[in-house]
Amino acid sequence: MYLYDEKNEKYLDVMSNYGVTIFGHTDKEITSALTQQLNKVTTLHGSFNNDARALASELLVKRCGESYRYVYWSNSGTEATEAALKFAVVTTGKKKIITCNHAYHGKTLGALSVTGGEKYRKPFTPLLWNVAFIEYNNIQALENEIDDNTAAFIVEPIQGEGGIYPPSESYLQQVRKICTKKGILLIVDEIQTGMGRTGSLLSIQKSGIEADILTLGKGLAGGIPVGATVINQKVGSAIFKGLHTSTFGGNPLACAGVIATLHKLTPQLLEHVDQMGTYFIEKLSGIKSPNIIAVRGRGLMIGVEVKENRNDYLKKLQQVKILAIPAGDTVIRFLPPYIIGKEHIDLVVAELEKII
Ligand SMILES: Cc1ncc(COP(=O)(O)O)c(C=O)c1O
Repeated sequence: MYLYDEKNEKYLDVMSNYGVTIFGHTDKEITSALTQQLNKVTTLHGSFNNDARALASELLVKRCGESYRYVYWSNSGTEATEAALKFAVVTTGKKKIITCNHAYHGKTLGALSVTGGEKYRKPFTPLLWNVAFIEYNNIQALENEIDDNTAAFIVEPIQGEGGIYPPSESYLQQVRKICTKKGILLIVDEIQTGMGRTGSLLSIQKSGIEADILTLGKGLAGGIPVGATVINQKVGSAIFKGLHTSTFGGNPLACAGVIATLHKLTPQLLEHVDQMGTYFIEKLSGIKSPNIIAVRGRGLMIGVEVKENRNDYLKKLQQVKILAIPAGDTVIRFLPPYIIGKEHIDLVVAELEKII
């Protein structure tokens, strides 16, 4: 749970490097799995077979859900989005993508095209293809925007970078129904919400739905850079060998991290994420301050929306040796490692209460 600076000062980490170090730092099993793989083979192109990659692929696809068949490995979340967009276009033969205001899917050109936030987009417009932005959590807006040219709708189960906005209870189920009814693909971006962050392996598993294309990254490989685009049979059938490749994608080192990560994401740990998340949100909601507008989140993906500049609060938290991160323009974001306990949460809430 801790990081140490150059003076050996100890910091409580409740941001896990934007959601990557899900088991905390220097976890024994992750370190051991990675070290063993380092001593075997670390890099091998996807055109050669490799045991670690085969096992990681099989385990991941199985854990994601029944309808998934294949995984395309890359090295970051934004690359997982790139692959998702290309696969959607190839599968449907169409190029219009629907996305949401304040969405975050990455910053390479394709991903940036479906990412909200003028400040990131402006220097590069016009961006790619035909992209329509709609309001998040608005089913009617999605229905209205789908036309004959639409390939896919891309959506986060909870908007992360945008400011931690969970949708209404039935939104994702309704989204799934409309995409199926209108014959467009559903791309679900679980790069931040996935790998246990909200108390289930994937956040959409709680809604009982499956995507056509699923994107993953962040903590998937135990801290080693990784991206994964998981697809169903329909999408898999449309892709030909060599259409989209990456030299480092699916490297055995990252795959050893994936295998160890999946092994550690037990039902008990996911239950702990759920319980700690509920406790954290309850405690934060108990802070009485005119500077807090809202506390939102699911599992260990939590945002505190504040009236004034959140950077001041983040800096003050750092002064008392607590590391949190921003989201949107006004949100303090907590993405702690899953090993967090009540004692850590109590400390963070007590310090935040004093500061705020
Ligand atoms: C939902 C979501 N999608 C995509 C990305 C991009 O991932 P990366 O920074 O690994 O490219 C992020 C990163 O924060 C994210 O939260």
